[in-house]
Amino acid sequence: MNMPVRMRRLRKSDSMRRLARGVNLSVDNFVYPLFVCPGKNIKKPIESMTDCFHFSPDKVVDEAKEVFELGIPAVLLFGSPEKKDEKGSDAFSDSGAVQQAIRNIKKAVPDLLVITDLCLCAYTDTGHCGIVKDEKVDNDASCEVLAEVALSHAKAGADIIAPSDMMDGRVGVIRKTLDENGFIDTAIMSYSAKYASAFYGPFRDAADSAPAFGDRKTYQMGPAASAKQAMREIELDISEGTDIVMIKPALPYLDIIYQAKQRFDVPVAAYQVSGEYMMINSAAQNGIADRQSVILETITAIKRAGADIIITYFAKEIAKWIRR
Ligand code: PBG
Repeated sequence: MNMPVRMRRLRKSDSMRRLARGVNLSVDNFVYPLFVCPGKNIKKPIESMTDCFHFSPDKVVDEAKEVFELGIPAVLLFGSPEKKDEKGSDAFSDSGAVQQAIRNIKKAVPDLLVITDLCLCAYTDTGHCGIVKDEKVDNDASCEVLAEVALSHAKAGADIIAPSDMMDGRVGVIRKTLDENGFIDTAIMSYSAKYASAFYGPFRDAADSAPAFGDRKTYQMGPAASAKQAMREIELDISEGTDIVMIKPALPYLDIIYQAKQRFDVPVAAYQVSGEYMMINSAAQNGIADRQSVILETITAIKRAGADIIITYFAKEIAKWIRR
């Protein structure tokens, strides 16, 4: 047979496949999430999430060191409060677990980037991501409190603030507050297209952040919202000054990641969330899939779709696999 084009030429050996494939994972792409809790000397397993722990601000330092030694450039901190209240006051306390953790990590591993998740859901007694007034999440009042929390993270030394609340206009309010207080170099990575997803279940158990009434559908996007709606969300965040945009969850929303990458010039992050993580873990545990292959296949898909940055609970493991 005379065929000028034979696709199999580029697949004939491992070296050829590596040379020609075009999608390469690097540890530089990853962010590892960490859960911080009040107290001392605590490293407590999170029951709903395999191999994940709650760390007290002193204990999180060893973990941060390990992450940095693996070559991963950043961690994403989630906090929990001493006690919850209406306003989520613990979230902007100078002595809050997250604020302490930021200071400790930046002191011990200054070159590891500390990103902080900015949300009120773990801190409010309603479990909502904002301030509730008359059984409704009050957008503008929520933005004011979120900006206060962002400022407290920046003061503690956070490199990047990651608002995950989905209030309208919060990126603008946060940027203004940071700038007015001299934190012109603190970056923002906004959860721009964040979906009201059933894939957050294990995380909500971990963060004890399920809403006490209702759901998050008045602020997070519905899965059936058009991609155009997601693009408007992203565009708004960029116009308000976000440095990085995020799409979350990752695998069910590859089309959104792809379109965002094609359309905008800012780095695109994707968050492989707790439900995606635990589905893979339980499939592997039940002999349905080969763990490493399935993890790398999903991460490769997320990268191929266009994610520059991937936030995943598998980051440490992946770093060990892909290091050469
Ligand atoms: C807080 C927040 C959530 C997640 C990250 N930030 C939960 C939610 O919105 O209900 C989910 C992360 C995960 O599932 O891994 N708003």
